[in-house]
Amino acid sequence: MNDSAHPLSAIDPSTAVVSLGRPPREVGAALNPPIALASTFVGWDTPDGDTDRGYARFANASWEPLEAAVAALEGSPLPALAYASGMAAVSAALSLVPVGGVALVPATSYNGTIGLARSLAEAGALRLREIDPCDIEATVAAMDGADLIWLESPTNPLLEVVDLPRLIGAARERGVRTVVDNTFSTPLRQRPFEHGADVVVHSATKFIAGHSDVLLGIVATRDAETRARLVAQRTLHGAIAGPFEAWLALRGLRTLSLRLDRAEATAGELARRLSAASGVSRVRYPGLPDDPGHALATAQLDGYGALVSIELAGGADHADAFVRALRLVTPATSLGGVETLAERRRRQTSEPVQVPESLVRLSIGIEHVDDLWADISQALEAAAR
Ligand SMILES: Cc1ncc(COP(=O)(O)O)c(C=O)c1O
Repeated sequence: MNDSAHPLSAIDPSTAVVSLGRPPREVGAALNPPIALASTFVGWDTPDGDTDRGYARFANASWEPLEAAVAALEGSPLPALAYASGMAAVSAALSLVPVGGVALVPATSYNGTIGLARSLAEAGALRLREIDPCDIEATVAAMDGADLIWLESPTNPLLEVVDLPRLIGAARERGVRTVVDNTFSTPLRQRPFEHGADVVVHSATKFIAGHSDVLLGIVATRDAETRARLVAQRTLHGAIAGPFEAWLALRGLRTLSLRLDRAEATAGELARRLSAASGVSRVRYPGLPDDPGHALATAQLDGYGALVSIELAGGADHADAFVRALRLVTPATSLGGVETLAERRRRQTSEPVQVPESLVRLSIGIEHVDDLWADISQALEAAAR
């Protein structure tokens, strides 16, 4: 890869997403990295020259451009690791907790993460302390004797903003490893390594790939020993990314800046309009000046993101009726794609009870703001009838 040709300090991230992870610039070479459909690579352990690429589960030419690009965007000198899904990445990061060790995991962030942590605790693999990272004092108190703290900010789906500098600082002072799930913000809006995080996790399924056509996870770390452990874990557990999936995610990354700029601007505008809409009892969006996370978000983030959660005044039935009445916006789970999606999160039985029954999470896409608003306002009216 020719990534060394682009010191990131010298170029804007919107340029970096376009230029990172390209093959060497040679006459006749492909502009985009090819997809290597190979289960093994030539030269493993031979006298003619060793290579990290042996069997395609150990290392893989198709992952490398994406792994290099995301690592550079996050600010890590070491290549990131690609996985079969965001949950495979979450699972790999949680495997850093020693057997019987203590993990602090938020009760109200992505439900798959707390679900996995609970099942590991039930199996005796780790001891779980469920935390509310917005309660700084209690979270810091829970760090005593802990091995790892998991943070996600803004949280899915409450969109609470966590004070990453304070919590990561406190964890570091106590020797607790910090993992940040940066799926919602992407490295274009938040770089947890700048606050001292040890590990950054992504569901690249979401904004990085950006087209709702691929599942993929990423883990990045700046620590060589941690990276070696993760490589060993991935090699043995086998939750590897497919070559085509990695290629699609890199292709999606090329437009991340454009997509995010557009979706975020629309999300901000829709959040403002929704704040004045009848039938909506609460709008959760860190970009709104009266949002509880606004000050922190302004200090911590380079943008407020493309997710807006609303609570419907009439409860769960009202929220279901609203989602059913949408015509342009698609009722579906997931987020971060070019198309706007809506979901009443508590329909999922695994969603924490702290999430209000009437909460609908909107993942804003790149459609025109007025078309989205026309659809959302007609659905609000229809649901109120
Ligand atoms: C914040 C966050 N982390 C991790 C995941 C898991 O990712 P995947 O669905 O790619 O396994 C999700 C999925 O919604 C998520 O929202």
